[in-house]
Amino acid sequence: MTRLETADRAAQAKPAPQAQRRCMNRRDFLILGGTAVTVLATFGEGAFAQQLVTSSYARKVVGKVSELEKGGAAVPFNYPTDDIENLLVMLNEEAGAGVGEERNIVAFNTVCPHMGGYMEAGLFRPDHSVLGPCPLHLSTFDLTKHGMIVSGHATASLPQIALELDGDDIVAIGVMGLFFGHTSNPSGA
Ligand code: FES
Repeated sequence: MTRLETADRAAQAKPAPQAQRRCMNRRDFLILGGTAVTVLATFGEGAFAQQLVTSSYARKVVGKVSELEKGGAAVPFNYPTDDIENLLVMLNEEAGAGVGEERNIVAFNTVCPHMGGYMEAGLFRPDHSVLGPCPLHLSTFDLTKHGMIVSGHATASLPQIALELDGDDIVAIGVMGLFFGHTSNPSGA
């Protein structure tokens, strides 16, 4: 066997570490998180990277696909606890971690990660798929790219609520990112 053949066999038998890492998808990670107290990891790649913070989050139905309108108004809901408000939207375009046929249904927290400015549903701009500007220092967040900042003072992305579909039900199953003012996210469980 030539040296080249030996190296080729070895490569086939043992996947590269990078390839192994890519095998874990978001669902696998959330399931893993369900068995741990707290897990911190990076979700996404490059500039779109977002921390997934999970700790046995509650599952909660937060809306129905049939009640959302593409490019329509944002719908507030509370998750994982009753005092944490988020917005559910159906964008005009596909989004990171989006669910639904067009992968365009996403949800984000309403509290700006910069200094806690409140971003109400009326600040959702469906024509640009952004939330903002924040009323305090004008940060604006891209809802197609895991809440990445597109302008303003914030240095962190807006926390994204991980979603799944169960028929027509939209189910919140976790949180990507840390809520403003928290050292760890409440699980709601
Ligand atoms: S609190 Fe939102 S930009 Fe400062």
